[in-house]
Amino acid sequence: MSLLSLDRILQSQGFGTRKYCRGLIEDGEVAIAGEVVTDYKSAIDTEGLVFTLFDEEWTYHEHVYIALNKPANIECSRKPSHHPGVLSILPEQFTWREVQPVGRLDHDTTGFLLMSDDGAFIHAQSSPKRHVPKLYVATTQEEVSDELIALLLGGVQLHDEPTPLAALSCRRLGSHQIEIVLEQGKYHQVKRMLAAAGNHCCALERTAIGSLTLVGLGLEEGEWCYLDAAQRALLAPA
Ligand code: URA
Repeated sequence: MSLLSLDRILQSQGFGTRKYCRGLIEDGEVAIAGEVVTDYKSAIDTEGLVFTLFDEEWTYHEHVYIALNKPANIECSRKPSHHPGVLSILPEQFTWREVQPVGRLDHDTTGFLLMSDDGAFIHAQSSPKRHVPKLYVATTQEEVSDELIALLLGGVQLHDEPTPLAALSCRRLGSHQIEIVLEQGKYHQVKRMLAAAGNHCCALERTAIGSLTLVGLGLEEGEWCYLDAAQRALLAPA
């Protein structure tokens, strides 16, 4: 059992300052198991807690782990400059909870973006030591040749990198499309590797992290979901 006062619970879930949350409770906007609770000091067990706020149902999460199918023209940076930031397409309380992307996708890259407010998880997941494979589908400007695949598998030298970077796996999906799996997360890595191998990337989608896939999660572009512990375990190298 883990008891917290209701005002702290709402604040921890990103619904505003403690004072604001107290106001919501006193105004009768919060209900638990169908009963309106107006005393903000009420001690509530957070385990498995489901509450309604403004008639919308919420489940208590100590930390949130989110998978988003990121659309194009959305920036992952905290201070977006040319396009809306990724938090603008998620419920507002994630901003209050200081949810942040785990690594980044370019503004024009679509697909699987992991987000969380758990610092230890973000740190562990983004550590280069973890070797988490990330699967991308890249559409290329020039036709995909055997030589391109061989170069990407053998390793290409990128500017500012001490040693060549190689794909973990790479295969042709169509005349102008490849699937490429990388275990590093260097800046513009897929685009730069394709350019270094003599082709160019016209569109890029990340479709999986570890063995967790967007298709498996059933996320259409712009959709998001919480990840449970079993799903998070799939984010590790296979
Ligand atoms: N590689 C890229 O070039 N861009 C991304 O967004 C992700 C990987």
